Amino acid sequence: MSEERISYGIYSPGVLGVFIFAIVACFFLYLIFNNLVIRYIITIIILALAIIIGLIFYESSSPLRVKRSIILVEFAEPKENSVMLDVGTGRGLVAITLAKACKNCKVTGIDTWSPLSLSGVSGNTMENAQKNAEIEKVEHKVKFQQADARKLPFPDNTFDLVASHEVLDSIVVGRDKVLKEIYRVTKRGGKFVFSTALSKYILIRKCSKMGFKKFQSVRLGLREGAITYYVLCRK
Ligand SMILES: C[S@@+](CC[C@H](N)C(=O)[O-])C[C@H]1O[C@@H](n2cnc3c(N)ncnc32)[C@H](O)[C@@H]1O
Repeated sequence: MSEERISYGIYSPGVLGVFIFAIVACFFLYLIFNNLVIRYIITIIILALAIIIGLIFYESSSPLRVKRSIILVEFAEPKENSVMLDVGTGRGLVAITLAKACKNCKVTGIDTWSPLSLSGVSGNTMENAQKNAEIEKVEHKVKFQQADARKLPFPDNTFDLVASHEVLDSIVVGRDKVLKEIYRVTKRGGKFVFSTALSKYILIRKCSKMGFKKFQSVRLGLREGAITYYVLCRK
């Protein structure tokens, strides 16, 4: 009997597809043009694209993703009996790591799981998230639910801890709504932890305007597979 293996997918499969297509196109251009200068430029473009593809695979590799999610969860220090939310859970990476980290806790992972999203992960479905929770034997602690982070289907002050990993940077339309919703569903005294590679200060300013306070951050580097910040704050 074959044992099922955990997989959290590859980041941004749509973007990856575009880059791979571009490499193939460049290769054909290389064959068409005999001019040395043009061939030299095409070779540089192919190398640059190959490096970007390599970096996406490196950043996406499951062991490094698990390592980063453990760092995020240790930074957030979830308590026993906590009720927690993972916003933009994808294939359940952070929801599962949170569930493994504390006794008697309950985690809900929400996502739109939109097949059209360019920023998702490969195999991005609720079924795959559920399968990962079963493989990690935390299915009794984790529940997945389809929802849009801009309109969370939960009452005010529901969660002790809300996490959002590799999501906020890629939400262009309605990011303020997402933060407002996260603030609303976080309990008073509860925590919000998120990652951001691009906009740490912008997000801290926005969260602070919503009412979050006591900001702390930690920086990750290439050894963890991504140059990014984890930011923790309280309601
Ligand atoms: C790069 S993936 C990260 C997945 C997961 N947090 C991880 O670290 O593996 C970003 C996720 O955010 C989800 N997402 C994007 N916009 C969303 C929204 N408005 N509401 C809920 N989920 C959203 C995408 O579907 C995708 O699964």
